[in-house]
Amino acid sequence: MKRSDFPQDFIWGTATSSYQIEGAVSEDGRGLSIWDTFSHTPGKVKGGDNGDVACDHYHRYPEDIALMKELGVNAYRFSLAWPRILPLGRGTVNPKGLDFYSRLVDTLLARGITPWVTLYHWDLPQALEDQGGWPERETAYAFAEYTDVVTRHLGDRVKHWITLNEPWCSAYLGYHIGVHAPGRQDLNLSVRASHHLLLAHGLAVPVIRQNVPGAQVGITLNLSPGHPASPDPADVAAARRFDGFQNRWYLDPLYGFGYPADMLALYSKAPPVQGDDLKTIAVPTDFLGINYYSRAVVKNGDLEPYRFQYVRAGEEHTDMDWEVYPEGIYETLVRVGREYRPNAIYITENGAAYPDVMGADGQVHDLERVRYFERHLDLCARAVRHGAPLKGYFAWSLLDNFEWAEGYSKRFGLVYVDFSTQKRTIKDSGLWFRDFLREVVKSS
Ligand code: FCB
Repeated sequence: MKRSDFPQDFIWGTATSSYQIEGAVSEDGRGLSIWDTFSHTPGKVKGGDNGDVACDHYHRYPEDIALMKELGVNAYRFSLAWPRILPLGRGTVNPKGLDFYSRLVDTLLARGITPWVTLYHWDLPQALEDQGGWPERETAYAFAEYTDVVTRHLGDRVKHWITLNEPWCSAYLGYHIGVHAPGRQDLNLSVRASHHLLLAHGLAVPVIRQNVPGAQVGITLNLSPGHPASPDPADVAAARRFDGFQNRWYLDPLYGFGYPADMLALYSKAPPVQGDDLKTIAVPTDFLGINYYSRAVVKNGDLEPYRFQYVRAGEEHTDMDWEVYPEGIYETLVRVGREYRPNAIYITENGAAYPDVMGADGQVHDLERVRYFERHLDLCARAVRHGAPLKGYFAWSLLDNFEWAEGYSKRFGLVYVDFSTQKRTIKDSGLWFRDFLREVVKSS
């Protein structure tokens, strides 16, 4: 497996998100986000960690871009902190917030790295949550306004736009089980949130197209194949419900099929669809972003209302306790390519946490992560050969960073960060990625 197994114009990048790396939470007029509030609420994040400083990327972005250059990537996916730009979510624009992203974009372009901007990677302005957050329809309109402000400002230079990152996480983890910000626990709120997130996407796409000549627009979903723990028909049906819950609930309306009937039947309250919402959501896009980490193995169970239960499967697991299951990236790419026919697919995240240690030699020998990347890329190449419209791959993540509810305890970076000194060290996996991109070494 080597770089030249992929098409010549394939995009190779790394990915990050604003709250996970920027720090500088009270600088230059940034407003509060739901993750500031959540991480400062005792008991919500492991170790009481928060993103106040994170990787201090707000100040160190030139150094971080130099690292990307060293890795040899040609693209960088990052997200904008909505509350840096609109501190109260709507209304007054904070020019200093826009300036920061403008400098970041200019520096990337000067170094030959194409910026891929995610508009929303979970850091909702707290002021909007105070007005009800994603369960309220107004939040979707606020998102379209924010999109307008940002694309007017950056659209002359940024051509690749991702509306949302993983709406499943925002809706389910944020509003149903509450392990992510804002930490509310109510099934109906999460169903409402999912609809307003999709609506926000649908409203934002035409705004981007209007403000950005030649824009490439998409959304990123976290997809996982769901496999039954046994051939028992009850487990097979549970896997089908998992698929509805994780994958089809988002894919079906985005590609014009509406909400899946089998899932609607599970909810006592339907999503608050009004007028032409489903048409708005099914607006054509240029690509689908897929974040892939693992599969799910499930059996019939009592997780309400989905009635499945996760089963720990497989032999190899990462530090997140996620099964290493490279075949799932192939299965997902081929299936989505065939069933939904997106114009293009990008893997917008793929990667693994391992308990890295800085060696006495000053290096991080993260060979398991190297293997993880090799095996997943090998199956990406196979998916391309078998007709999946995969056009690019972003490794998660450039840097070790604030891993949400896990705080700094989980490291996903190609680059190791010593959080006490902010020193960055390219791990062996980063060196491997660099060599893979340069094609100086062949992988097995
Ligand atoms: C994804 C998130 C990303 C990161 C990885 C490990 O769900 O999009 O921010 O936390 O998981």
